Amino acid sequence: MEKYIIKGGRRLEGEVTISGAKNAVVAIIPAVILADGPCVLENIPQISDVSITLRMLYEMGAEVTRLGKGTYRIDATRIKDPVVPYELARHIRASYYFLGTLLGKYGRARVSMPGGCYLGDRPIDQHLKAFSSLGASCVLENGMIDICADRLIGSQIYFDKITVGATINAMLAAVKATGLTVIENAAREPHIVDLANFLNSMGADIMGAGTDVIKIRGVRSLKGTSYAIIPDQIEAGTYMAAAAATRGNVLIKNVIPKHLESITAKLAKIGVNVEEFDDSVRVSVDGPLVKTSIKTMPHPGFPTDMQPQMSTLLCLANGTSIVTEEIFNNRFRYVDELRRMGADISVEGRVAVIVGVGRLSGAPVTAPDLRAGAALVIAGLAANGVTEIDDIYHIERGYENLEEKLRGLGADIVKKNVPGVSVRKAVL
Ligand code: EPZ
Repeated sequence: MEKYIIKGGRRLEGEVTISGAKNAVVAIIPAVILADGPCVLENIPQISDVSITLRMLYEMGAEVTRLGKGTYRIDATRIKDPVVPYELARHIRASYYFLGTLLGKYGRARVSMPGGCYLGDRPIDQHLKAFSSLGASCVLENGMIDICADRLIGSQIYFDKITVGATINAMLAAVKATGLTVIENAAREPHIVDLANFLNSMGADIMGAGTDVIKIRGVRSLKGTSYAIIPDQIEAGTYMAAAAATRGNVLIKNVIPKHLESITAKLAKIGVNVEEFDDSVRVSVDGPLVKTSIKTMPHPGFPTDMQPQMSTLLCLANGTSIVTEEIFNNRFRYVDELRRMGADISVEGRVAVIVGVGRLSGAPVTAPDLRAGAALVIAGLAANGVTEIDDIYHIERGYENLEEKLRGLGADIVKKNVPGVSVRKAVL
């Protein structure tokens, strides 16, 4: 079992380059299935969610060729059976994008119920609503989702709540449907826009991505294309929070500053300096960190995927901060671990009250999920003493070369292979 060992208290200084966006690439890789020719994808991050997604395609019969660092050629034209391997699909959330893409291409799909981070209740009713609106029938049994449609007909889809995954699945299923599909109350995240741009580069006809109304005119066929994935706004935000928590001075390169607006604004309120350039931001801290309130919202609001990292930073701020998690109903599982490090946080439902303690102390902790794990890394970097983080496989799902990038900024972090089973697994 692998652990991170972090000796905290060192300021992060220097430059770090951000990788391709996890939540864009896990939608764009399955979308390659829609093409009648091979695609070349660039800026693909080397993270386990990507490896699993590529493996699923390969096991279904696609040709997957690594052309160089972060660049893959994928030819999915030889897929015969639109069934995604159960053992792989059950591990990640994004496996459910194979539903939309296989339905869009072949009119049928069979995928296991998705896995991914436990963040509370994560139903898929809006995904099924979108597929049904387009004329598909959906059956859930034995842990599998079976959908099929004789013909997909464009329709009006109104989401009862804003959902990134269901918006993406509706787009994937509708691009080759007959006629016009209008998706209302659509998610507006940068990765929705990235997927639309990718599909349009294949010959799709999608308008309005990035707004709450997306219009899709079905086309008969989509061609192979070459495409570079956008930088990861959450990876960038994580390094911004880490630089602030260690009172460092870091230039974060290969970002789209507009995608970071809500994070930048919140950091500025806390007293962090954020200097914006064309494709980079510099983060530094001169004065005291001060309390603030954060409420997570769908984009362009403050992203839920940055909530744990910012809560950690607020543990080091003067005063009492309030963090409200509006998207998921159980995204404070990292709080118990931060308390081991001296944090003073109380949680009531979707609200965390954080009393700034000024300093954390290193301790053995366990990562409960991807972004919570990132938060514990930030806590370890800022803490006095040594922090050991278990179950780092969660973190490696979404952060490429984390320990190398942090070491490049002066952090004292190593990955150690420790025999035995993680405490959490042993207990469970
Ligand atoms: C995506 O998850 C991301 N995952 C999550 O990132 C991110 O936190 C989330 O979007 C919100 O931005 C991927 O892109 C792989 P949702 P997703 O559908 O699609 C409810 C990370 O750390 N809902 O936008 O599952 C749902 O329960 C991960 O990178 C329904 O009720 O999120 C939640 O409360 C964690 N019915 C809310 O909507 C549905 O059919 C938002 O979920 C679908 C969702």
